[in-house]
Amino acid sequence: MTPDTKIRCWRLQDQTQSLVLAADGDQLPEIVYWGPRLPDASDLSMLALAARPDVTGGILDAVPPLSICPEARRSFPGHPGLSLRDDTGAVLLPRFSFHDAKDADNELTLIYRDADLGLDYQAIFTLTPSSGMIVARATLESTRPIGVQWLAPPVFPAPQNSQEMIDFHGRWIGEFQVSRTPWAPGARLRDNPTGRTGHEHFPGLIVPCNGATNTQGQAYGFHYGWSGGHRMVAEELPDGRRQIQWGHASGSYREAATRFETAPLYAVFSDAGINGCATAFQRHLRDSVLKLPTPDRSRPVHYNCWEAVYFDHDHDTLCDIASRAAELGAERFVLDDGWFGQRNTDTTSLGDWTINHEKYPGGLMPLINHVHACGMTFGIWVEPEMVNPDSDLYRTHPDWILGDADQLLGRQQLALNVALPEVQAYLYDHLAALLSAHPIEYVKWDHNRVLPEPDHRQAMAVYALIDRLRANFPTVEFESCASGGGRIDFGILSRTHRVWLSDSNDPLERLRIQHEAALFLPMVVTGSHVGPRICHTSGRATDIRLRAWVAAQRHMGFEMDPRELTKDEAQVLREVTTWWKANRSWLQQADILRLDSDDPAMIAELQRAAEADRFVVFAGLSESSTQILPRPLRLCGLDPDAKYEIRLLNRDDAPALSRGTPLLKTDAATLSGQYLMHQGITLPWTFPQSIWVIEGTRL
Ligand code: GLA
Repeated sequence: MTPDTKIRCWRLQDQTQSLVLAADGDQLPEIVYWGPRLPDASDLSMLALAARPDVTGGILDAVPPLSICPEARRSFPGHPGLSLRDDTGAVLLPRFSFHDAKDADNELTLIYRDADLGLDYQAIFTLTPSSGMIVARATLESTRPIGVQWLAPPVFPAPQNSQEMIDFHGRWIGEFQVSRTPWAPGARLRDNPTGRTGHEHFPGLIVPCNGATNTQGQAYGFHYGWSGGHRMVAEELPDGRRQIQWGHASGSYREAATRFETAPLYAVFSDAGINGCATAFQRHLRDSVLKLPTPDRSRPVHYNCWEAVYFDHDHDTLCDIASRAAELGAERFVLDDGWFGQRNTDTTSLGDWTINHEKYPGGLMPLINHVHACGMTFGIWVEPEMVNPDSDLYRTHPDWILGDADQLLGRQQLALNVALPEVQAYLYDHLAALLSAHPIEYVKWDHNRVLPEPDHRQAMAVYALIDRLRANFPTVEFESCASGGGRIDFGILSRTHRVWLSDSNDPLERLRIQHEAALFLPMVVTGSHVGPRICHTSGRATDIRLRAWVAAQRHMGFEMDPRELTKDEAQVLREVTTWWKANRSWLQQADILRLDSDDPAMIAELQRAAEADRFVVFAGLSESSTQILPRPLRLCGLDPDAKYEIRLLNRDDAPALSRGTPLLKTDAATLSGQYLMHQGITLPWTFPQSIWVIEGTRL
């Protein structure tokens, strides 16, 4: 660059952060600063100049920019931001130049052009000050059809004062497991070929800066809001710089086209520990992504009959169960799998969306009427994207499936090619008929197998199908389920209203899964059910108190057969449900803050009301501690100068082996935020596999 080359600069900022982009002349810009808010008078060009790296031996004579779309053509020494071919298969190496920029009201649009190749690249950044979330997207337009192997939303640099990155893997009944990978030269690649978000690959990343914990330090968080399977590249370049790229999984773009668009990348900077990332994701999802039909309505307590009856649907039994569920406090009854076709096992009938008249001789209305008479609303399970080979649909339309006829089955089923117009029409018509003929206000939408190969058209087609149903049935809520938590992302959650976080109703498993998922998900979307006494997926027996309180941490429901409950268990469940209902109006708006527990056996969180005038702490002891006495539990997110009254809500649960007199066993305590955050709460000794619930009120 010559000394008088113009530097183009742009800034996005809110009360807490600034993000600065700068470009030499017409080149694509780099994010040259992203962190705590800069002084208003900052000279952005100076900042760009000051950050210009040196050049040393053995490298090029200038350092290629780590731009928002690193270009291979400019000798970029790492993974490029896009990868294209023309219709002859020849590689296209664009070299973009500035074309236009629009900078208004927290939204920045940058348009760059390669006139020779006929390509327009557009990057859009949107900042939502109420959550601090930056949403970044990219589009690519071409004057002629081209093939895209890779297109990243705007590329972010990763901090260099960071030792590791945290991302997520998992499995059925074991979602949201944490992987920590040290930064090292080279790339960490997560490429998800399953065609759905997947248990195995949640599209999220946390990059803590040195010393960051849940409650302190700086951290960056990312989430790719896409349901078709993502690819993440977190790379340390040979020169030490680091970049983070997201996009659709390899092979997702199946056809040449003239327009491509990434899914939104959600990016957040936190000066308040990893919790700052978590609360930004929670708030942004709840307040800006989620579109509840009736946002002011409290989330109803669910009853789901799956683990009570499975495929064995009998009118009288279901009515008995519904009556009991309502008496326990349920407000919505969800009829799960088994009501349609010849669906007596999971080997048959997906695709045949007509009521099974042997199980329901009078149709569904007698059951629905009973559910209504119990004071509950009615919801129903469907799995529209799938078909069993043993179904009338498959026998009639074997050509409607995605992939080869002899592909491996998953749960004895195949995926339909939802992008085919005739499949869209079939599914829309059958679902619309079901919703038109019955007062159904909730649909649990399942997706129980991976796709044979990734194909972004499938996810787009499913989005279109749900969007059309929602437009025509605007009062119906949808739940995203995929064998539990296999399709959880902000893309599906911009058109659904709840996720079935896991098929594990084991409260110990749930305690952990919920804790990790809270990095991204608020209470209001996170379904959590009280399961059977002996868990059907772990074989573990747990106390009703633990089961009930763990469900009460999120959007509460029941899924056991209520006929198995003893009087005592039913009473505990009623009491916890009553507590949840009395508190849900503020819990739905609360931030979930993960506590830095000093005892690895304890998984604890604090839910703080939006007005910060009250909170509740759930402290679950997942196993026996190694030390004798409970370590003090340090809280967070309180006003150090304020006084709080804290009360151990379930102090009567203290076992006889708690022989001492910690204050909270008998009385409330009034303590400063400073004390509670620095010293912490002294809890009574308790059994492993139990949970303390502590309420706090600001005085
Ligand atoms: C999936 C879901 C379960 C249940 C079954 C029904 O496994 O995750 O909750 O709905 O399907 O077949």
